[in-house]
Amino acid sequence: MKDRVRVGIVGAGWAGQTTAKFYRRLPWVDIVGWADFVPGKAAAAAAEFGVAPEAVYLDFDKMLDEVDMDAVSVCSFNNGHREPTVASLARDKYVHLEKPMAATLEDAQAIMRAADKSKGQLMVGFQPFFSSEHKAAREIVQSGALGDIYYAEAVAHRRWGMPGGNFVKKATAGAGSLVDIGVYAIHAALTLLGDVTPVTVSAFTGSPLAKRYPRINHGFGGSWTADQVEVEEFAAGLVRFSNGSVMVIKSAWNSNIDSMGRSFFLGTKGGLALDPLELYVNQQIGDLNMTSVPKNVRPIEDWPEKIKVFAEIVRDGSPSPIDRRAVFLVNVLMDGMLRSAEAGREVDVTAAY
Ligand SMILES: NC(=O)c1ccc[n+]([C@@H]2O[C@H](COP(=O)([O-])OP(=O)(O)OC[C@H]3O[C@@H](n4cnc5c(N)ncnc54)[C@H](O)[C@@H]3O)[C@@H](O)[C@H]2O)c1
Repeated sequence: MKDRVRVGIVGAGWAGQTTAKFYRRLPWVDIVGWADFVPGKAAAAAAEFGVAPEAVYLDFDKMLDEVDMDAVSVCSFNNGHREPTVASLARDKYVHLEKPMAATLEDAQAIMRAADKSKGQLMVGFQPFFSSEHKAAREIVQSGALGDIYYAEAVAHRRWGMPGGNFVKKATAGAGSLVDIGVYAIHAALTLLGDVTPVTVSAFTGSPLAKRYPRINHGFGGSWTADQVEVEEFAAGLVRFSNGSVMVIKSAWNSNIDSMGRSFFLGTKGGLALDPLELYVNQQIGDLNMTSVPKNVRPIEDWPEKIKVFAEIVRDGSPSPIDRRAVFLVNVLMDGMLRSAEAGREVDVTAAY
């Protein structure tokens, strides 16, 4: 076990700064490097978070070569995930990589291969994994209370909440709502479905609303105009798994509806819904339908918890609590959805890395 943990950060946008804010709550963690290739950006963030000016770099490779560090938080935009993650894993660092693992399947495959070879660990930053609700949901499913899950829906919904900037550009984000918010719902669903193997996907994606919107829209943490939008605002698809079960995925940054339902799971013994967590059973005593809602659950602030857990696994030399195969499968499904939408038909998703 280490006394102190030395970390570097790649990317000084919102995610990099939020990561720094929560590292700052851990007195045994030192931020010893911060790289962003936009001149002045890491320097400004470093000044704000009390990180030494000598720790600031434009080039993450130079930072990795020159600074002695145990771990790296990769908080670059989606299409900037692969290079710093692979380079850090190749140097046997522990890596906290912000979600999604990557925007493309090819990048996710390269990251998986690097993680397999590394003496470091890869933890992709899905903070809902650490929430009280998702922990409880996993325990309920693992207890067998649902029986065999035969159908699930993974839903990520905003009514009008499309981010701007790098998030709507193909070159930086890779794709749209699916890789930005759909990933959370798909990852949560896969961690509850357990050891499943996806076989086929059929999907639709598009930006039918954003493309028709003439004015500047002040969306979710940024603004955009129709001509700037190069990625999908909406995605919906159906996944078939090798065990015969099926999952529907719905993801929207923009939609003219107040809800697209919540993520839920239908099992042979019970059903479970998230946000908020509820368990549904029929006791087969007459028509006795029962609903259980959790009580006295200690709320956990998931973002700081994610950073604390990561720093702890670095300190203790422990494995990542987030299984990287499930994270990789998120990429397999997103890639299948984007390919299916492009082809206009069901596609095979039995890809590996
Ligand atoms: N877990 C969450 O709640 C959460 C929230 C927001 C964003 N994110 C994720 O974090 C990542 C960053 O999001 P953001 O909002 O900070 O984006 P952003 O585009 O505002 O900032 C990313 C920064 O990374 C820098 N960068 C990109 N590639 C680089 C490279 N190779 N070397 C050095 N710097 C590089 C860019 O210059 C930019 O300053 C995204 O992948 C996003 O999906 C996660």
